[in-house]
Amino acid sequence: MNLLTAIRTFFTAGQGVFRGMKDASEDSNPIELFKDWFETAEKSGIILPEAMSLATSTPDGHPSLRTVLLKSFDEDGFVFYTNYESRKARELIENPQASILIHWAVLHRQVRIEGPVERVSDAESDTYFASRSRGSQIGAWASMQSKMLGSREILENRVKEADKKFAGQAVPRPEHWGGFRIRPERIEFWQGKADRLHDRFIYSRETGAWRGSRYYP
Ligand SMILES: Cc1cc2nc3c(=O)[nH]c(=O)nc-3n(C[C@H](O)[C@H](O)[C@H](O)COP(=O)(O)O)c2cc1C
Repeated sequence: MNLLTAIRTFFTAGQGVFRGMKDASEDSNPIELFKDWFETAEKSGIILPEAMSLATSTPDGHPSLRTVLLKSFDEDGFVFYTNYESRKARELIENPQASILIHWAVLHRQVRIEGPVERVSDAESDTYFASRSRGSQIGAWASMQSKMLGSREILENRVKEADKKFAGQAVPRPEHWGGFRIRPERIEFWQGKADRLHDRFIYSRETGAWRGSRYYP
């Protein structure tokens, strides 16, 4: 690596390039590893470290992507919230398989997660919905996500109507709004390193237990 490349790598890649994946091995628990990486991303000052790309596909194999926010994760899976009548939700209901991707550019880190998807329980969606701001709650009633909208004014009028409807009371969760959980079967960690000789570990769940392997970059 020449000096210029080294300086550029230092400033753009931050700590990640130099840290490598010392903490990863064939026996690591990928959920624990994800937690460690997520906490590092939160501390790094990245805006929206929880933003992730969500890929879905129609049953006949047409893929689509969009950004959603990761709201919780544990051994059971990775949860995001959305409108159950949106395009992504319709695709997930017809073909309950998803892939999510998070790229923390400043850390030179990428995580890919794949697996089957299910709706979270109504109780879990209720709890999360209740924690949102009133404005977001009203927005969930007003927006017919992914449907064509004639004008901004129509949306603003729908917000006013919902606001009036629930004036002076707690906003209940609309039935068309809630969470999905991706139950991971494959999790890949990618750590950028100098000279494109990156570290990659792929973990897959076999008969309940995680097994990891190192891969060529
Ligand atoms: C940073 C960011 C975060 C977002 N988070 C969410 C989210 O958590 N849930 C959601 O439904 N849409 C979220 N969106 C909007 C989606 O990307 C998308 O536009 C919307 O969900 C409609 O997608 P669909 O038509 O494929 O269903 C977010 C967009 C951005 C840019």
